[in-house]
Amino acid sequence: MKLVVIGAQWGDEGKGKIVDYLAEKADVVLRYSGGANAGHTVVLNDQTFKLHLIPSGVITPEKQAVLGIGMVVDLENLFEELDGLEGSGIAWRGRVFISDRAHIVLPQYKEADRKRDAERRMPIGTTGRGIGVTYAQKAHRDGIRIGDLFDGEVWNRLSKEERAFLEPYREKIRDMVVDVSRFIHEHREGNILFEGAQGTLLDLDLGTYPFVSSGISCAAGAAIGGGIGPHSLDRVLGVFKAYSTRVGNGPFPSEFTEQRDGSLGDTIREIGKEYGVTTGRPRRCGYLDLVALSYACRSNSIDALCLTKLDVYDGMEEIKVCTAYSINGQQTRDFPAAIDRLNKAQPVVKSFPGWMQSLRDCRSYANLPVEARTYIEFAEQYVQTPVEIVSVGPSRSETILRRNPWTPS
Ligand code: GDP
Ligand code: IMO
Ligand code: MG
Repeated sequence: MKLVVIGAQWGDEGKGKIVDYLAEKADVVLRYSGGANAGHTVVLNDQTFKLHLIPSGVITPEKQAVLGIGMVVDLENLFEELDGLEGSGIAWRGRVFISDRAHIVLPQYKEADRKRDAERRMPIGTTGRGIGVTYAQKAHRDGIRIGDLFDGEVWNRLSKEERAFLEPYREKIRDMVVDVSRFIHEHREGNILFEGAQGTLLDLDLGTYPFVSSGISCAAGAAIGGGIGPHSLDRVLGVFKAYSTRVGNGPFPSEFTEQRDGSLGDTIREIGKEYGVTTGRPRRCGYLDLVALSYACRSNSIDALCLTKLDVYDGMEEIKVCTAYSINGQQTRDFPAAIDRLNKAQPVVKSFPGWMQSLRDCRSYANLPVEARTYIEFAEQYVQTPVEIVSVGPSRSETILRRNPWTPS
């Protein structure tokens, strides 16, 4: 079976945790887009792993972890991350693979990324990891692919500086390079988990352009990243948190404001530890936005959802969700493409009573307080998509399984 996990908001939904949880039943875990801009956290007992390039499935022994076709790979970061894993007792040799078609991030692309963003009239607030520049080089047909390290003709055409930087990696990476399309074909009878990075609203096409990243982070990217056609993907799981966050600039209709919500934004940031894994920047926080979530469900054909961070609301007497936008006095449930409309959108909210108790030890859906179930079921109804997993803490064990996502629909 081929199961896709994507972010249904602006990234940092807890994809790393969910992928790690689902990896037990997978044979292969493939990351299909983005690069070291991502930060995926896996918490296992007393160990915390922060992954940027390597699929979160690598934490589970013996799983094969693949960096797919749609990725942009910073080789310095990659080997730092692999060394870190080894230092934490994760044996990765022989089971981490990388697509010959993935593109390479050169050090000068990172400098150019930072400079370009600083000079923008409306800075995006990129992670400075050279992501946009590398994807632009790719689109210009000037990019350098992993396979080019072993392609005599292309290698000889690279500049002296480029070759000097890349030379040490040729031997280090040689045994890891695969033709991903063939690799996935050979594993087609097994379970393949596709790990998305970023999220729908950061996708280059579906997101809040230009305040997006540059990869194909939507579900369709899984097919491209895995070198297969879209009808070979069996199920799409969307991960969303009980509220919304966004790092960097750009529209955020349901963002908490001091005027309307007092210190709620700071409270949620502290309880939810909402600081970027990659840059350490504070994340902007807001209500769960069902208008945006509906759009994510539709545009990715999401079969089922995983709700994370429900426990962050444990101490709240009242919980609000955004059910529509009011734009120029008119209500809409559509997620607009225009930044101007998104910036003007005022959230129309519905209020729910909180549960005022800890969910951290809860392991079955039936044992969740009725207020928590009401909140979940309202969201399900609104977006017409079932919630199969509820996460009540960062650890692998703090998870409620309502229906196994590996079971075909
Ligand atoms: P990703 O980029 O989608 O993988 O998400 P991140 O790892 O950037 O951010 C999610 C953060 O929330 C991480 O620190 C996770 O350990 C944490 N987390 C995941 N699920 C839960 C949960 O259900 N409750 C709490 N309190 N934290 C969670
Ligand atoms: P994960 O996989 C949250 C944001 C950046 C910036 C914009 C463009 O951990 O969910 P880029 O460096 O990609 O050109 O920056 O996208 N961004 C993320 N925000 N989670 C991520 O990844 C992100 N990856 C990029 O903050 O606003
Ligand atoms: Mg993250």
